[in-house]
Amino acid sequence: MSYCIGVTGGIGSGKSSAAKLFAERGAAVVDTDEIARQLTAPEGDAMGAIAKAFGPAVIAADGSLNRTAMRELVFADITRRRQLEAILHPMIRAEARRRVLAATSPYVLLLVPLLLETGRYGNIVQRILVIDCAESTQIERTVSRSQLSEESVRSIMAAQLPREKRREQADDVIDNNGDLEHLRGQVAALHQRYLELAEAKRRRG
Ligand SMILES: Nc1ncnc2c1ncn2[C@@H]1O[C@H](COP(=O)(O)OP(=O)(O)OP(=O)(O)O)[C@@H](O)[C@H]1O
Ligand SMILES: [Mg+2]
Repeated sequence: MSYCIGVTGGIGSGKSSAAKLFAERGAAVVDTDEIARQLTAPEGDAMGAIAKAFGPAVIAADGSLNRTAMRELVFADITRRRQLEAILHPMIRAEARRRVLAATSPYVLLLVPLLLETGRYGNIVQRILVIDCAESTQIERTVSRSQLSEESVRSIMAAQLPREKRREQADDVIDNNGDLEHLRGQVAALHQRYLELAEAKRRRG
Protein backbone atom coordinates (compact mmCIF):
# COMPACT_ATOMS: atom_id res chain seq x y z
CA MET A 1 0.00 0.00 0.00
CA SER A 2 1.18 3.53 -0.80
CA TYR A 3 2.14 5.76 2.08
CA CYS A 4 -1.11 7.61 2.89
CA ILE A 5 -1.38 11.17 4.17
CA GLY A 6 -4.75 12.42 5.40
CA VAL A 7 -5.33 16.05 4.40
CA THR A 8 -7.79 18.17 6.30
CA GLY A 9 -8.61 21.77 7.18
CA GLY A 10 -11.58 24.04 7.73
CA ILE A 11 -13.90 25.26 5.00
CA GLY A 12 -12.03 27.34 2.43
CA SER A 13 -8.64 26.72 4.06
CA GLY A 14 -7.15 25.62 0.73
CA LYS A 15 -7.35 21.80 0.82
CA SER A 16 -8.31 21.47 -2.85
CA SER A 17 -5.74 24.07 -3.95
CA ALA A 18 -2.95 22.33 -2.03
CA ALA A 19 -4.00 18.90 -3.32
CA LYS A 20 -3.88 20.17 -6.90
CA LEU A 21 -0.28 21.33 -6.39
CA PHE A 22 0.72 17.95 -4.93
CA ALA A 23 -1.02 16.21 -7.84
CA GLU A 24 1.04 18.31 -10.29
CA ARG A 25 4.11 16.72 -8.70
CA GLY A 26 2.74 13.24 -9.27
CA ALA A 27 0.94 12.46 -6.01
CA ALA A 28 -2.27 10.48 -6.23
CA VAL A 29 -5.20 12.33 -4.65
CA VAL A 30 -8.30 10.61 -3.30
CA ASP A 31 -10.97 13.22 -2.60
CA THR A 32 -13.88 12.15 -0.38
CA ASP A 33 -15.98 15.14 -1.54
CA GLU A 34 -15.62 13.92 -5.11
CA ILE A 35 -16.57 10.37 -4.06
CA ALA A 36 -19.68 11.76 -2.30
CA ARG A 37 -20.68 13.64 -5.46
CA GLN A 38 -20.24 10.51 -7.58
CA LEU A 39 -22.29 8.41 -5.16
CA THR A 40 -25.14 10.94 -5.37
CA ALA A 41 -24.95 11.67 -9.12
CA PRO A 42 -27.66 10.26 -11.46
CA GLU A 43 -27.53 6.47 -11.01
CA GLY A 44 -24.94 6.91 -8.26
CA ASP A 45 -24.55 3.93 -5.96
CA ALA A 46 -26.12 5.73 -2.97
CA MET A 47 -29.24 6.95 -4.78
CA GLY A 48 -31.30 3.77 -4.34
CA ALA A 49 -30.89 3.78 -0.56
CA ILE A 50 -31.45 7.55 -0.37
CA ALA A 51 -34.65 7.37 -2.41
CA LYS A 52 -35.90 4.52 -0.24
CA ALA A 53 -35.14 6.34 3.01
CA PHE A 54 -36.10 9.89 2.06
CA GLY A 55 -38.62 9.63 -0.76
CA PRO A 56 -38.92 11.48 -4.09
CA ALA A 57 -38.73 14.99 -2.57
CA VAL A 58 -34.94 14.79 -2.37
CA ILE A 59 -34.42 13.34 -5.87
CA ALA A 60 -33.84 15.74 -8.76
CA ALA A 61 -35.42 15.20 -12.19
CA ASP A 62 -32.20 13.62 -13.51
CA GLY A 63 -32.08 11.11 -10.66
CA SER A 64 -29.28 12.82 -8.76
CA LEU A 65 -29.53 14.06 -5.18
CA ASN A 66 -31.40 17.36 -4.84
CA ARG A 67 -28.77 18.92 -2.58
CA THR A 68 -30.79 21.99 -1.65
CA ALA A 69 -33.81 19.91 -0.62
CA MET A 70 -31.60 17.50 1.33
CA ARG A 71 -29.72 20.31 3.06
CA GLU A 72 -33.01 21.83 4.22
CA LEU A 73 -34.30 18.47 5.36
CA VAL A 74 -31.27 17.54 7.47
CA PHE A 75 -30.44 21.04 8.67
CA ALA A 76 -32.94 21.13 11.51
CA ASP A 77 -33.34 17.39 12.02
CA ILE A 78 -30.44 15.52 13.56
CA THR A 79 -32.19 12.13 13.13
CA ARG A 80 -32.51 12.67 9.39
CA ARG A 81 -28.91 13.86 9.22
CA ARG A 82 -27.70 10.71 10.98
CA GLN A 83 -29.82 8.63 8.62
CA LEU A 84 -28.17 10.23 5.59
CA GLU A 85 -24.72 9.81 7.11
CA ALA A 86 -25.45 6.16 7.90
CA ILE A 87 -26.04 5.62 4.18
CA LEU A 88 -23.24 7.75 2.77
CA HIS A 89 -20.32 7.50 5.19
CA PRO A 90 -19.70 3.75 4.97
CA MET A 91 -19.94 3.93 1.17
CA ILE A 92 -17.51 6.88 1.04
CA ARG A 93 -15.08 5.12 3.36
CA ALA A 94 -15.18 1.89 1.39
CA GLU A 95 -14.58 3.65 -1.92
CA ALA A 96 -11.84 5.89 -0.47
CA ARG A 97 -10.09 2.85 0.93
CA ARG A 98 -10.38 1.04 -2.39
CA ARG A 99 -8.81 4.01 -4.22
CA VAL A 100 -6.01 4.43 -1.69
CA LEU A 101 -5.11 0.76 -1.96
CA ALA A 102 -5.19 0.96 -5.76
CA ALA A 103 -2.83 3.98 -5.93
CA THR A 104 0.50 3.27 -7.59
CA SER A 105 2.26 6.57 -6.79
CA PRO A 106 4.87 6.59 -3.97
CA TYR A 107 2.42 8.32 -1.68
CA VAL A 108 -1.26 9.18 -1.78
CA LEU A 109 -3.20 12.10 -0.30
CA LEU A 110 -6.59 11.32 1.17
CA LEU A 111 -8.70 14.50 1.37
CA VAL A 112 -11.23 14.39 4.19
CA PRO A 113 -12.65 17.77 5.25
CA LEU A 114 -13.89 16.39 8.59
CA LEU A 115 -11.05 13.90 9.16
CA LEU A 116 -10.51 15.00 12.77
CA GLU A 117 -14.22 15.52 13.52
CA THR A 118 -15.59 12.22 12.22
CA GLY A 119 -12.36 10.27 11.75
CA ARG A 120 -12.54 6.59 10.95
CA TYR A 121 -9.60 6.60 8.58
CA GLY A 122 -7.09 5.64 11.27
CA ASN A 123 -6.47 2.28 9.65
CA ILE A 124 -5.20 3.74 6.37
CA VAL A 125 -3.87 7.21 7.25
CA GLN A 126 -0.25 7.25 8.41
CA ARG A 127 0.19 10.98 8.77
CA ILE A 128 -2.01 14.06 9.06
CA LEU A 129 -1.51 17.26 7.09
CA VAL A 130 -3.58 20.27 8.13
CA ILE A 131 -4.10 23.20 5.79
CA ASP A 132 -4.42 26.25 7.97
CA CYS A 133 -5.21 29.92 7.57
CA ALA A 134 -6.80 32.72 9.56
CA GLU A 135 -10.56 32.46 9.98
CA SER A 136 -11.02 35.85 8.32
CA THR A 137 -9.16 34.49 5.27
CA GLN A 138 -11.29 31.33 5.22
CA ILE A 139 -14.42 33.48 5.21
CA GLU A 140 -13.15 35.93 2.61
CA ARG A 141 -12.03 33.17 0.19
CA THR A 142 -15.16 31.06 0.66
CA VAL A 143 -17.58 33.97 0.21
CA SER A 144 -15.83 35.20 -2.92
CA ARG A 145 -15.94 31.72 -4.47
CA SER A 146 -19.43 30.46 -3.50
CA GLN A 147 -22.99 31.69 -3.02
CA LEU A 148 -22.59 31.38 0.73
CA SER A 149 -23.06 34.43 2.92
CA GLU A 150 -20.54 35.32 5.60
CA GLU A 151 -23.12 34.21 8.15
CA SER A 152 -23.49 30.72 6.63
CA VAL A 153 -19.73 30.30 6.40
CA ARG A 154 -19.45 31.23 10.07
CA SER A 155 -22.10 28.68 11.03
CA ILE A 156 -20.30 25.95 9.05
CA MET A 157 -17.05 26.90 10.79
CA ALA A 158 -18.78 26.73 14.17
CA ALA A 159 -19.66 23.09 13.46
CA GLN A 160 -16.04 22.26 12.61
CA LEU A 161 -13.11 21.88 14.99
CA PRO A 162 -11.53 25.15 16.07
CA ARG A 163 -8.25 25.94 14.32
CA GLU A 164 -6.07 25.26 17.36
CA LYS A 165 -7.57 21.82 18.01
CA ARG A 166 -6.95 20.85 14.43
CA ARG A 167 -3.36 22.06 14.49
CA GLU A 168 -2.69 20.11 17.71
CA GLN A 169 -3.43 16.86 15.90
CA ALA A 170 -1.38 17.62 12.81
CA ASP A 171 1.90 15.99 11.90
CA ASP A 172 2.44 18.72 9.29
CA VAL A 173 0.80 22.12 8.86
CA ILE A 174 0.67 24.20 5.68
CA ASP A 175 0.30 27.90 6.38
CA ASN A 176 -2.04 29.14 3.65
CA ASN A 177 -2.28 32.76 4.74
CA GLY A 178 -0.03 33.89 1.93
CA ASP A 179 -0.35 33.92 -1.84
CA LEU A 180 -0.32 30.90 -4.14
CA GLU A 181 3.48 31.06 -4.50
CA HIS A 182 3.82 30.75 -0.75
CA LEU A 183 1.55 27.70 -0.87
CA ARG A 184 3.47 26.22 -3.79
CA GLY A 185 6.80 26.49 -1.93
CA GLN A 186 5.47 24.62 1.10
CA VAL A 187 3.96 21.93 -1.12
CA ALA A 188 7.32 21.47 -2.87
CA ALA A 189 9.13 20.98 0.46
CA LEU A 190 6.52 18.58 1.86
CA HIS A 191 6.47 16.63 -1.39
CA GLN A 192 10.20 15.86 -0.91
CA ARG A 193 9.58 14.93 2.70
CA TYR A 194 6.71 12.61 1.77
CA LEU A 195 8.80 10.91 -0.91
CA GLU A 196 11.47 10.24 1.72
CA LEU A 197 8.94 8.96 4.26
CA ALA A 198 7.31 6.75 1.64
CA GLU A 199 10.70 5.35 0.64
CA ALA A 200 11.61 4.69 4.27
CA LYS A 201 8.34 2.84 4.75
CA ARG A 202 8.90 0.82 1.59
CA ARG A 203 12.33 -0.26 2.82
CA ARG A 204 10.87 -1.31 6.15
CA GLY A 205 8.36 -3.34 4.14
N1 LIG B 1 -3.00 30.97 -1.15
C1 LIG B 1 -4.09 31.39 -1.78
N2 LIG B 1 -4.18 32.62 -2.31
C2 LIG B 1 -5.29 33.04 -2.91
N3 LIG B 1 -6.41 32.32 -3.06
C3 LIG B 1 -6.41 31.09 -2.56
C4 LIG B 1 -5.25 30.55 -1.89
N4 LIG B 1 -5.55 29.29 -1.50
C5 LIG B 1 -6.80 29.05 -1.90
N5 LIG B 1 -7.34 30.12 -2.53
C6 LIG B 1 -8.71 30.26 -3.07
O1 LIG B 1 -9.59 30.19 -1.96
C7 LIG B 1 -10.73 29.42 -2.26
C8 LIG B 1 -10.81 28.24 -1.30
O2 LIG B 1 -9.71 27.35 -1.57
P1 LIG B 1 -9.95 25.79 -1.75
O3 LIG B 1 -11.13 25.53 -2.61
O4 LIG B 1 -8.64 25.20 -2.15
O5 LIG B 1 -10.28 25.44 -0.23
P2 LIG B 1 -10.92 24.10 0.35
O6 LIG B 1 -10.31 23.92 1.70
O7 LIG B 1 -10.79 22.99 -0.62
O8 LIG B 1 -12.45 24.55 0.52
P3 LIG B 1 -13.73 23.61 0.80
O9 LIG B 1 -13.75 23.39 2.27
O10 LIG B 1 -14.90 24.44 0.39
O11 LIG B 1 -13.57 22.36 0.00
C9 LIG B 1 -10.59 29.02 -3.73
O12 LIG B 1 -11.30 29.92 -4.52
C10 LIG B 1 -9.09 29.11 -3.97
O13 LIG B 1 -8.79 29.38 -5.32
MG1 LIG C 1 -12.24 21.69 -1.42
